[in-house]
Amino acid sequence: MSNLLIKNIGLLATPMGTAAKSGVQQGAVQFLYDAFVRIEDGIITEVGSGKPRAKNGETVVDAGGKLVTPGLVDAHTHLIFGGWRQNELGMKLHGKTYLEIQNAGGGIQSSTNATRMATEEELTAKASLALDEMMAFGTTTVEAKSGYGLATEHELKALQVIKNLNDRHAMDIVATFMGAHLVPKEYKQNRKEYIRLVCEEMMPLVAQQGIAKYNDVFCEADTFDVEEARQILEAGKKYGLRPKIHADEIEAIGGSQLAGEMGAISAEHLIVCPPEGIEALAKGGVIACLLPATSFNLGATFAPARDMVNAGVPVAMATDFNPGSCPCLNMQFVINLGCLKYRLTPEEVLTAVTLNGAAAIDMADKVGSVEPGKRGDLVIWDAPDLDYICYRFGSNLVKSVIKAGKVVK
Ligand code: NIG
Ligand code: FE
Repeated sequence: MSNLLIKNIGLLATPMGTAAKSGVQQGAVQFLYDAFVRIEDGIITEVGSGKPRAKNGETVVDAGGKLVTPGLVDAHTHLIFGGWRQNELGMKLHGKTYLEIQNAGGGIQSSTNATRMATEEELTAKASLALDEMMAFGTTTVEAKSGYGLATEHELKALQVIKNLNDRHAMDIVATFMGAHLVPKEYKQNRKEYIRLVCEEMMPLVAQQGIAKYNDVFCEADTFDVEEARQILEAGKKYGLRPKIHADEIEAIGGSQLAGEMGAISAEHLIVCPPEGIEALAKGGVIACLLPATSFNLGATFAPARDMVNAGVPVAMATDFNPGSCPCLNMQFVINLGCLKYRLTPEEVLTAVTLNGAAAIDMADKVGSVEPGKRGDLVIWDAPDLDYICYRFGSNLVKSVIKAGKVVK
């Protein structure tokens, strides 16, 4: 494997450590000026400042005095789906709500129909293009959920696509099973039977094939209530699938409290998370994975990120890339919204999209910061400092992306 020296880094900005940061620590980012980073066999071996001498055979990249950060971690995506749902834009503009569109046969069900029609090859090709685009925007690690198959064959197909992509694409991808995304139309009159199918048929096969690490449930009015979510997450635990939960996205029905009680690794969305939900997350050591581009697209309010930081809940931020509530895969836009809408500082936002994102998928010992021992995943920005990437929006400010010590953009 080739070795790489990145020199002439004007400013290296990175959180430090191998675990999620909370409270004031969320904003404790290390700034190193006039820096260099050495990567050997894909792993960072040296970080320092000054003018290093290149070793024999080492490839040298000149960062041109620009900003360097860790590669971005997108800890929440629904990467695998057939089709798109641009037709729902008109319905939205005519005042239909997300749940009204879903109940009218649009929403997750319509993406499920398209996903069931697509072959493994088609889904792989489509998602591979999305991964290329994500990487071009600075993302080097991604979480990807199933959840648009909603039948054993198609949920396994989606997870197999994720496995194929993780094997073939430069991106690191962590898989989450989300059979409990919606009760599909054929089980609408018999939701208990669908839940049984998820827990007793899909989960054992997912576990047997070793194709997912996490189990996620859409806990919401009209999808899965708290008791159903509890049952599904408990069942997943028996198969070694750690709980994640879509909670308090539209209505606060108790999802964040359930996340705290169950010790979920993360709770997602939390747009309308109440104070008692925040308390439960803090007590349960749950990472809040916030998805501001979804709030933007839904025209919803923004999660109470500052209250979460103040309460000692580690905050991560991700895209939620999916064909419905967030057809956006650009983590730079998430960074902008983190500052402008959550009112988090650039340092807190950087931690949210790197180290805390990594912790939300149990990868914080491998990625999420630039320090010896971590994977050589970095972004060289066409920017002089961290404030600049938080303040400019609408442009792609990535100059270069380095993944496991290889220049991929
Ligand atoms: O995270 N909330 C549930 N799932 C996705 C949306 C799925 C869809 O609209 O297709 C989300 O927002
Ligand atoms: Fe989601």
